[in-house]
Amino acid sequence: MAPRKLAAGNWKMNGNLAALAEIDVLVAAYPAPGCEILICPPALLIHPAKARADDVIAIGGQDCHDQASGAHTGDIAAAQLRDAGATYVILGHSERRAGHGETDATVAAKATAAHAAGLVAIICLGETEAQRDAGETLDVIAAQLHGSIPAGATAANTVIAYEPVWAIGTGRTPTTDQIAEVHALMRDRLEGKVADAAEVRLLYGGSVKPGNASEIFAIPHVDGALVGGASLKAADFEPIIAAL
Ligand code: G3H
Repeated sequence: MAPRKLAAGNWKMNGNLAALAEIDVLVAAYPAPGCEILICPPALLIHPAKARADDVIAIGGQDCHDQASGAHTGDIAAAQLRDAGATYVILGHSERRAGHGETDATVAAKATAAHAAGLVAIICLGETEAQRDAGETLDVIAAQLHGSIPAGATAANTVIAYEPVWAIGTGRTPTTDQIAEVHALMRDRLEGKVADAAEVRLLYGGSVKPGNASEIFAIPHVDGALVGGASLKAADFEPIIAAL
């Protein structure tokens, strides 16, 4: 069975209680969506977002700790995300790798914790502009994939998102050939690491907009998108959902 397509919105550190009205708009527009829709708001908004998502839209976190509980001031455990209504968690986003020193090992440990709590981990990979310019993209992605995906990963509990760092929030996107090359590599490298590798959903993220979504979704092995800025307003996110 082909994996169900996923339109995931990452609100990052944006939004407030009033912004949850955007979820109401999506619920009204897609009472029976043809793809899976996910919104990952800031952690404080997960519980009220879930209450409004009406089981039509999944809700996710943007990070979790690798420990189940304990003295980790300011952190959130995967089980706490689950308790608040989340079913997904984004892990290893480049903004956390760069801003919080997260390594592949950190991401793998967090993914293990997410799986134990019953969350689907969206594991992010991506090269910097310098790495692409140096011709290192495929090696970087292969290494990140190998190091960030933990034992026990399956198509049911893991999604991979390819997000070139230089394409995030910049309005720049790779060519379709460049996205296709990386997604084919990811599919290939999942073989042997994940039992049902062919079913693992592979997302593209980085300046996905209503105007380029159809072209990106037509690329082989692109099973959806992880959308930042264009997920904040339902009017922008809706045409991306419709393109899946
Ligand atoms: O998680 C989302 C990505 O960082 C993409 O963000 O769509 O604003 O470029 P963007």
